[in-house]
Amino acid sequence: MKNAAVIVAAGRGERIGGSGGPKQYRLLDDRCVLQHTINCFTAHPQIDVVQVVIHADDRELYASHVMHHDKLAGPVIGGATRQASCKAGVDALDAGTQNVLIHDAARPFVSAIVINNVLNGIAKNTCALPANAIADTIKRAGSDQVVLETVSRDDLFLAQTPQGFLLSEIGAAHEHAANESDTDFTDDAAVGEWAGMQVKLVKGDRDNFKITTQQDLEAARERMSGANMIADVRTGSGYDVHTLGPGDGVILCGIKIPHTQSLQGHSDADVGLHALTDALLGTIGAGDIGSHFPPSDPKWKGAASDQFLAHAVQTVQHAGGTITNLDVTIVCEAPKVGPHRDPMRNRVAEICGIADLSRVSVKATTNEKIGFIGREEGIAALATATVCFQGTKDV
Ligand code: CTP
Ligand code: MG
Repeated sequence: MKNAAVIVAAGRGERIGGSGGPKQYRLLDDRCVLQHTINCFTAHPQIDVVQVVIHADDRELYASHVMHHDKLAGPVIGGATRQASCKAGVDALDAGTQNVLIHDAARPFVSAIVINNVLNGIAKNTCALPANAIADTIKRAGSDQVVLETVSRDDLFLAQTPQGFLLSEIGAAHEHAANESDTDFTDDAAVGEWAGMQVKLVKGDRDNFKITTQQDLEAARERMSGANMIADVRTGSGYDVHTLGPGDGVILCGIKIPHTQSLQGHSDADVGLHALTDALLGTIGAGDIGSHFPPSDPKWKGAASDQFLAHAVQTVQHAGGTITNLDVTIVCEAPKVGPHRDPMRNRVAEICGIADLSRVSVKATTNEKIGFIGREEGIAALATATVCFQGTKDV
């Protein structure tokens, strides 16, 4: 089975105005609209061939703007109407091609999901049309701009591309339509409909808009500059260990667990909360727990460790961060952590002000009786914190 994409790029872009040439060759970033549109299809694993249709005057523009790709066939020349350009693209495809998706060069934000929806919607005598419901109220008005009626939008949809067909069916339909002098179809689904095919709507995407006006081009550039920024998501790691000594229980992640020993330390020796504190400080390069709460300071003797973690949370929040995930692993032979996992998660969530418990994870493992943990001389904890910062950042 072979899937081809035909990208029609032979229009003159009259509505966009200005002196920048055809809109498909205008730059969105360091690449033009057409290159971005081609990339959406060459990058899709189910698309085997991409056929671009260009205007005879644009050969040099195409050669200077579009990069080579193994899936990209040499361009063919389109016609005076979109319908004629689509026919030229369809006719250029290998006859062994099963499905063809016909797409406007002026829609550079088509997603892999929309391409999948269209591919999955193609069937015998059925073409797939990505479409969106209409959100605005619809009015019909006369030439004097006076409203004649309010039209129900319930059964109205905005059609997009790519539109998907069996090549044999759309090839025959275009052939037939080209012989009719009074037809000028503005999309291929209309050609299919005219030829008696069923047109099936599949889910489109508002981001898959067509660049028609200067305002659309500016919106596309804005969108592209956002796409080149990376989301400011940061990860920090933490590790802590304390020795076990005489006592009747250990405090792990703020929960007292009865045991034959206790963890020894300057504070309450809660390795779980200490590792989490370091992980959080690590997301903003704010040092470690020792630099905020020196063990030499008598103030912290026997201190409950929740205040260390709360301080790290506050420091991260002051830096503009939102904690999206905390994950701690306790390494010990005993006591068993499993029965206390949920109270531990709840307590960590409470200290950190996290409402969604799925964002707090407590795990445990033994050390297979090896080393100081295996000999039950101490307990260790490892933690990871993920923190998101507002917006995106160039790094
Ligand atoms: N198209 C084409 N051949 C034509 C006319 C249009 O290949 N004779 C292509 C355009 O390049 C565009 C797509 O069809 O990618 C959708 O058409 P449209 O947005 O109308 O583009 P233009 O015709 O270039 O713009 P305008 O109508 O403003 O002149
Ligand atoms: Mg046009």
